[in-house]
Amino acid sequence: MTQDKFKGLEEGRIFPPSEEFRNKALISDVGIYKKADDRLAFWEERAGTLSWFQKWNSVLEWKPPFAKWFNGGKINASYNCLDRHLEGSRRNKPAIIFEGEHGDSFELSYEELHQEVCKFANVLKSMGVQKGEVVTIYMPMIPEAVVAMLACARIGAPHSVVFGGFSAEALRDRINDGGSKVLVTSDAAYRRGKILPIKENVCAALQGVEGIEKVIIVNRTNTKIEIIKGRDFWYHKLMEQASTECPAEKMDAEDMLFILYTSGTTGKPKGVVHTTGGYLTGVATTHEFVFDLKEDDIYWCTADIGWITGHSYLVYGPLTNGSTIVIFEGTPDYPEKDRFWQIVEKYKVTILYTAPTAIRTFMKWGAEYPAKRDLSSLRLLGSVGEPINPEAWTWYHKYIGGERCPIVDTWWQTETGMIMISPLPGVTDLKPGSCTRPFPGVKVEMLDRSGQPVEKGDVGFVAISEPWPAMLRTVYGDDRRFIDTYWSNWPNKYFAGDGAKLDKDGYYWIIGRVDDVINVSGHRIGTAEVESVLVEHHAVAEAACIGKNHEVKGQAIAAFVTLREGFKASEELIAELKSYVSKKIGAIARPDDLYLTDDLPKTRSGKIIRRILKDIAEGRSIGDTTTLADSSTLESLKKLSHN
Ligand code: PRX
Repeated sequence: MTQDKFKGLEEGRIFPPSEEFRNKALISDVGIYKKADDRLAFWEERAGTLSWFQKWNSVLEWKPPFAKWFNGGKINASYNCLDRHLEGSRRNKPAIIFEGEHGDSFELSYEELHQEVCKFANVLKSMGVQKGEVVTIYMPMIPEAVVAMLACARIGAPHSVVFGGFSAEALRDRINDGGSKVLVTSDAAYRRGKILPIKENVCAALQGVEGIEKVIIVNRTNTKIEIIKGRDFWYHKLMEQASTECPAEKMDAEDMLFILYTSGTTGKPKGVVHTTGGYLTGVATTHEFVFDLKEDDIYWCTADIGWITGHSYLVYGPLTNGSTIVIFEGTPDYPEKDRFWQIVEKYKVTILYTAPTAIRTFMKWGAEYPAKRDLSSLRLLGSVGEPINPEAWTWYHKYIGGERCPIVDTWWQTETGMIMISPLPGVTDLKPGSCTRPFPGVKVEMLDRSGQPVEKGDVGFVAISEPWPAMLRTVYGDDRRFIDTYWSNWPNKYFAGDGAKLDKDGYYWIIGRVDDVINVSGHRIGTAEVESVLVEHHAVAEAACIGKNHEVKGQAIAAFVTLREGFKASEELIAELKSYVSKKIGAIARPDDLYLTDDLPKTRSGKIIRRILKDIAEGRSIGDTTTLADSSTLESLKKLSHN
């Protein structure tokens, strides 16, 4: 793996916290890291900020790789997100500000959200849901999805949220794996002015599925749908009769809060299991510290509830902390490409947490869209999900953050449950492109294959060498897979699957998944590394690289590039871009093939589907496309596959 990329970056500009930011920051003393060296004491103190029905007997019981945090403690996640805020001034504070796709909007105070959740918890009970039974939720980004999650938590029924953009087949697999009897869904969803079927997918998914006995449907779009008597029920009808009294179940700290499926290197998705007490401690603490949370913040996390970011930093972290959250139903380009900025202006959003892929899309559209709106309410920006290339970081900082907002680049995973590596914005000097340092109380190491720590300045594998409170507890129903996937590389250390570089200051620079690392003639090159260089080129909007099989070299790089507005595809440009990579990283990284395409194949959460690119690069017909967000992408890609 070449390290040239990092050389320039380390010498690049550093952004220390401004004096103004530091003066008001929740954490401005670097001593927090030292203090948290006593990890168990640190996390125990943090757990103490939550509301417990009964205190734990032990902070951690660790029988590697199985952890129990705060064992013996009794707690309820819904109680922590709602009831405990009803005593004082938060009672009337907005918990949720909802912005519908059409600009329709309403707020739910903590008191109102509590009532809705209690009612729906009673509905679930009336549908026969028992403590410990998994409920599947398949919904668009509407507040009822949050109500459903918290209602499950309230009665101790783990939820399994399936992203609304998944196909019927994917939904069916997840229902079967989780063994749900009850499914919560909606009639349909609004998307870019059109109506997308949801219930129709549910009906297709349920064909041949024995387990689901009841389906509860939110009427979001007034779409005519088939109702199967005795199985399908309207949410609003059930809610009319439901009582607002529903005490929260006293759950064990280690009771399962949810399952969330995530793709692995093999085909079958893994059901990542998270439990209650440790998870809440982890997400509440990281949300508060990383986002420098203040009581009057208007916090907007743009992730869908179908992903871990939606679980941890749209729902459980912020609501445990009594924040006001914005939920947006639509997409950034509908009706116009300034929709995000219009929302920031409308609600005076103070904290925005989004993904690099979105930022790069905004760059492609141009700075004139944010420039039209008043973004002066923003005071902190966040990034998650993939490495943010320094160019995107700098653009985000300048055009969205007005050069005054720190950017917290947060590294973590579905499996980690909580942010693991991230700046603390009142303390950390930022380096564009680096997620900086492990969070206090989190022990990250960079190891080589044999498990030896790498020197500062070297690349290695990200490992987590001590248990952390929000860690996954297992893969649902498959302890073996849990052990094999995460704990088999080195004794008692978690293998994150990411490669990174540790710089001379101990900062982490995530290169990307090691499964996305290309091995060209024995030299390892991170796809993210080549991509980062490509997007530095003034003509490039986005880039994705994959390793294609090559007879001589083992693997060769194929790059897929979308151009910024105003640039035209040509043979000259292809040659220029190949040379550009060669120049920036070395001849070894020069892509063998470089395709200029209108669009990259992405999932609805914005992740590039490299498998499709590999199919094209290796001259196969394109395989499974069910997770593709926009089917029109396929047409432009198909043209490439005939090249
Ligand atoms: O490769 C890392 C990348 O996303 C992976 C985890 O994906 P997922 O479980 O879907 O969770 C995404 C949201 C937390 C990681 O293994 N990743 C996540 N955050 C970053 C990142 N890569 C670089 N920088 C980040 N900040």
